[in-house]
Amino acid sequence: MNGSLADAVSRRRTFAIISHPDAGKTTLTEKLLLHGGAIQLAGEVKARGDRRRARSDWMKVERERGISVASSVMTYDYGDCTFNLLDTPGHEDFSEDTYRTLTAVDSAVMVLDAAKGIEPQTRKLFEVCRLRDVPIVTFINKLDRESQDPFNLLDEVEQSLALNVTPANWPIGMGRSFRGCWDLFEPALVLVNREGNRQAAGGGGRRIPVSGLDDPAVAEHLTAAEIAELREQLEMVQGLCPPFDREEYLAGALTPVYFGSALNNFGVRELLDGLSGMAPQPRPQATRERTIQPEEDKVTAFVFKIQANMDPKHRDRIAFVRLCSGHFRRGMRLKHVRSGKPMVMHNPLLFLAQDRERAEEAWPGDIIGIPNHGNLHIGDALTDGEELHFTGIPSFAPELLQRVRPDDPMKAKHLGRALTQLAEEGAARAFRTRLGSQWIVGVVGALQFDVLADRIRTEYEIPVRFEPTELYTARWIAGGDPARIKAFIDGNSAAIADDHAEDPVFMARNAWHLERAQTDWPEIEFRATKEQL
Ligand code: G4P
Repeated sequence: MNGSLADAVSRRRTFAIISHPDAGKTTLTEKLLLHGGAIQLAGEVKARGDRRRARSDWMKVERERGISVASSVMTYDYGDCTFNLLDTPGHEDFSEDTYRTLTAVDSAVMVLDAAKGIEPQTRKLFEVCRLRDVPIVTFINKLDRESQDPFNLLDEVEQSLALNVTPANWPIGMGRSFRGCWDLFEPALVLVNREGNRQAAGGGGRRIPVSGLDDPAVAEHLTAAEIAELREQLEMVQGLCPPFDREEYLAGALTPVYFGSALNNFGVRELLDGLSGMAPQPRPQATRERTIQPEEDKVTAFVFKIQANMDPKHRDRIAFVRLCSGHFRRGMRLKHVRSGKPMVMHNPLLFLAQDRERAEEAWPGDIIGIPNHGNLHIGDALTDGEELHFTGIPSFAPELLQRVRPDDPMKAKHLGRALTQLAEEGAARAFRTRLGSQWIVGVVGALQFDVLADRIRTEYEIPVRFEPTELYTARWIAGGDPARIKAFIDGNSAAIADDHAEDPVFMARNAWHLERAQTDWPEIEFRATKEQL
């Protein structure tokens, strides 16, 4: 192990923000980047997003529906730490990308709207984090508006997510009478800054270190009634909430809670300081063969997301790769484990808030982009030569199945190629029926159909139609005895299709159809998902 590697690892914080649409994720992201010096003026994340959207044709769906379909990565420095913030799409009809993005982070920030508490999308994303015991810091946003009682909010997090909660700060007033917060970790009064430039990095809150509530400085800023109320509430907090326990937080069993207002740039610095101090450094990663420690000298990495046409001018495809160990350098030759072939990292990219640039080096926890022509797939491992297969990159049962046809029947072959590529990318599942050679596409969220239709039209120039089918589900056929599998396939050819990798799939018409097959063929496995590996 070398010192600079261990040092770089200890300074990395790779995280995502999870929230329901409108809770304030974009606004908070912007303020985090502002503090990190990655952008100069608040407002740029959105402005940049709009510019990018305007440039990219297939993102029309995004524009029309006002949602962000593609997730991205932003790297910035704050204090001693380098933060990699992975964006997750927040709309309800999300796709598998969101889940996969969460496999590449070490912690998450959960943003709640103080008036609304936990909303459906927050809960879904939280459940994914819980599956991997991802530690979560909570940011309760929009305290400048009329909000729910802070105790009720804490209670909701505790009860409905089954998480212990420890407030990191405590709000003084709310809505129009929101004065600021009391810092519970390092006694201080942090007042909403009503003067000066609130959008400057440190501008949202004025921090006044104090020894405790009886410090005369407190009375200089708060009225006697405000102090009395705060005193009472802090006593209740002490009585009701456990003290902060970092081990519990790291195990995903406790969440520290920050109150603030992203729009007013309030509470953001405290949140960042909190993440620097307590959020985990890159975690060890599980593979089928062994657990990889980030401080190992040899480079290991896995692909968690593929994005095509990030820049339509270049028609490129970028594999987002999470580094798990070692010191990565541009020009390195790594083994692409699935194909067994070496790959030279000529042009790795680093994603900064405003741009992407060539990555000369990167460390565990960092995300790099590798432009490629389709040879990198989700779940692929890149190593220094070792045969490793990462586990835990989820693949999902396609719950919605539709038939896809080209408007021009002469384009059927081209459509097949497009679907195969999109399936390799992980954007959808594509199946070709053995009878009739029809293409069926399976997704987990209905919106994916729109995105796919748009991409097939713009990236492959094939206008297509999606049509409903009578199909209930697709199951990959596996099991020990090839002769029995062949017998099943031969006997059910009308319900058999092949996926993009030519693996056989059973297309069930309804629950009964599937059940019947399972009962009649007990030695055959009908798998809801296909391993990415
Ligand atoms: P999202 O990415 O989670 O979907 O939320 P986003 O940041 O876009 O915020 C949703 C709306 O909530 C925005 O208002 C934003 O200005 C507002 N907002 C965010 N943080 C706060 C806060 O601390 N206090 C208050 N009062 N509002 C906040 P909008 O009107 O929908 O958009 P915009 O026109 O302001 O951009």
